[in-house]
Amino acid sequence: MTAFTTHISAYAQSIPSAQSPLVIKFSHVVASNTPKGEAAQRFKELAEKATHGRVRVDIFPNSSLYKDKEELEALQLGAVQMLAPSLAKFGPLGIKEFEVFDVPYIFPSKEVLYSVTQGPIGRSLLSKLEPKGITGLAFWDNGFKDISANRPVHSPTDMKGLKVRIQSSKVIDVQMRTLGAVPQVLAFSEAYQALQSGFVNATENPPSNFYTQKMYEVQKHMTLTGHGYLGYAVIVNKKFWDGLPTDIRDELNTAMAEATTYANTIAQQENDRALEAIKKTGKTKVYALTPQEKNAWRKELLPVQKEFEQRIGKELVSSINKEAAKFGYQ
Ligand code: LMR
Repeated sequence: MTAFTTHISAYAQSIPSAQSPLVIKFSHVVASNTPKGEAAQRFKELAEKATHGRVRVDIFPNSSLYKDKEELEALQLGAVQMLAPSLAKFGPLGIKEFEVFDVPYIFPSKEVLYSVTQGPIGRSLLSKLEPKGITGLAFWDNGFKDISANRPVHSPTDMKGLKVRIQSSKVIDVQMRTLGAVPQVLAFSEAYQALQSGFVNATENPPSNFYTQKMYEVQKHMTLTGHGYLGYAVIVNKKFWDGLPTDIRDELNTAMAEATTYANTIAQQENDRALEAIKKTGKTKVYALTPQEKNAWRKELLPVQKEFEQRIGKELVSSINKEAAKFGYQ
């Protein structure tokens, strides 16, 4: 074999084909029948179809490959190519701006949320990932979090003394301490068992996660506080992404845009459905706050925003508040 043919065959090997497709390992921590799980599946279908089999997307749900913290390390090392971690998980990487998503009641509605995540503020936030070797492709929604516990929680003071499983987020930690609760950071995959064993006795999640992780088996009460946000950034290893043939990257970007529209369309429906399913189990009693009670939660948690403004960036916080004002929220 001449140097020329060696070069040609090496080059040919690096070009993905239907026979030897380029594999994207997409790892995540939730169940397949959640907004994130279903959007990942939709992305897989769209990407494989658009690239005529030159790309294969292998999805690893439910922490089957990596847990929360490990998956971010694996992406940076190139062991997996794509993830959709919850936004709370970027703070520990040193990207403080992402902590804004954990600020209680920062998004007064879904329209405000989407105008932030799907507009210039969202794009600017994604660009902050680049120095970490990560390219941010999209924001996927999973709605607002509610509180669950083994005793009824109606007013903020009912949180006193509860030991609450939280994600690894400084804002959520302070939020729980503000309520007089004791936060305990645990990986998502460990939450069920920690609740079951009594290591913790409360947590926060949107109904879709609560239902698909069967937390209704180990939590007697759920209160519809909607106090915090849970969404995802779909991310890829930057080196991998930049090294893709341009036509493939373009096809994948198109598939991602479509999967994102899908994700953000099903998020509310899936959570509404999950909430009904939780009620139907009869195992967790769901409590809807009165408007006065909800105001008490807002008021109690307002200092958290004040406390973090400096750290997250005053400008970023006020740009979100301005976005809210455009929709008539003060
Ligand atoms: C959690 O850890 O509670 C969530 O981030 C899990 C997820 O990805 O929805």
